[in-house]
Amino acid sequence: MSAIEKFIAEIPKAELHLHIEGTFEPELMFEIAIRNNLKLKYSSVDELKAAYNFNNLQEFLDIYYSGADVLIEEQDFYDLTWAYLQKIHSQNVLHTEIFFDPQTHSSRGVHFSKVISGIHRALEDGQTKLGISSKLILSILRHLSEESAIQTLEEALEYKNWITAVGLDSSERGHPPSKFQRIFEKALEEGFLTVAHAGEEGPPEYVWEALNLLHVSRIDHGNRSLEDPELVAELARRHIPLTVCPLSNLKLKVVNDMSKHPLTEMLDKGLLATVNSDDPAYFGGYVNENYLAVAKALNLSKQQITQLAKNSFAASFLEEKEKKSMIEKVEKFSHQ
Ligand code: HPA
Ligand code: ZN
Repeated sequence: MSAIEKFIAEIPKAELHLHIEGTFEPELMFEIAIRNNLKLKYSSVDELKAAYNFNNLQEFLDIYYSGADVLIEEQDFYDLTWAYLQKIHSQNVLHTEIFFDPQTHSSRGVHFSKVISGIHRALEDGQTKLGISSKLILSILRHLSEESAIQTLEEALEYKNWITAVGLDSSERGHPPSKFQRIFEKALEEGFLTVAHAGEEGPPEYVWEALNLLHVSRIDHGNRSLEDPELVAELARRHIPLTVCPLSNLKLKVVNDMSKHPLTEMLDKGLLATVNSDDPAYFGGYVNENYLAVAKALNLSKQQITQLAKNSFAASFLEEKEKKSMIEKVEKFSHQ
């Protein structure tokens, strides 16, 4: 292991952009499909993995939703989440904020209560057995209707204490944040924080809408914000974090080459950028592999990596006191 690899592996960090359905490793997918008497479209793990060749966000989403189709029971959601927590425990992730997509499951007749109970039970075990703290973010599928989003939010109210924020994901182009302005107003009234995927494939205007209409606390991805200097200034002035996902950007062709990734430009422009894995089972790496990919391609220094790890806690939904203590841990590590 190289010195930089070791430094990345050991530095304490948080993950803030992670879709739990995107952690579904092919081996577990086959195991759960078999026990639920369901057939996958692919006959083997290798055949499934060979299909993970995407030209854009939509090509990925089609495969991601079909993989999630085998999740039926509360135990399936537990197993999925527990496998992810064990993995990040080995990567020195101390805190994680996880998206889940209830509509992906309710559309197949799998009730909200099963989905959230399985995930929540694993997150509790993550805290007690692995010492990993977590927050849960309910993500609305933007390609579906406002009515479907309203229904999802209503189902969530019963589990309000388990959910920190409401987010927005899925096909970005043609589905601007403004489509969900009323839902997000309701979510804010109910006491949820808000976040949104914006500027991954969509234009800077979608990032403006996420800020001004959805009142988000963070932007997920946000790459295309860099096309608009006024937007960059606004994001920097308001310390709005960007949850950046380098390997996802490469696999979905948001960037053509990792050496052209805008992460250092973001940091240089004073943006609170963080590094995350998005859908690690599909994009070839968990959080440490994402740090390593940008560290190599952009020749990041230990100081820049330390900054990214500190940003991950600063941008989190932890309480100020917890943030401070986590950031101190990162500093202590980097000085040893
Ligand atoms: N973008 C939009 N929707 C998603 C993503 C993403 O990166 N991952 C899972 N759902
Ligand atoms: Zn995402």
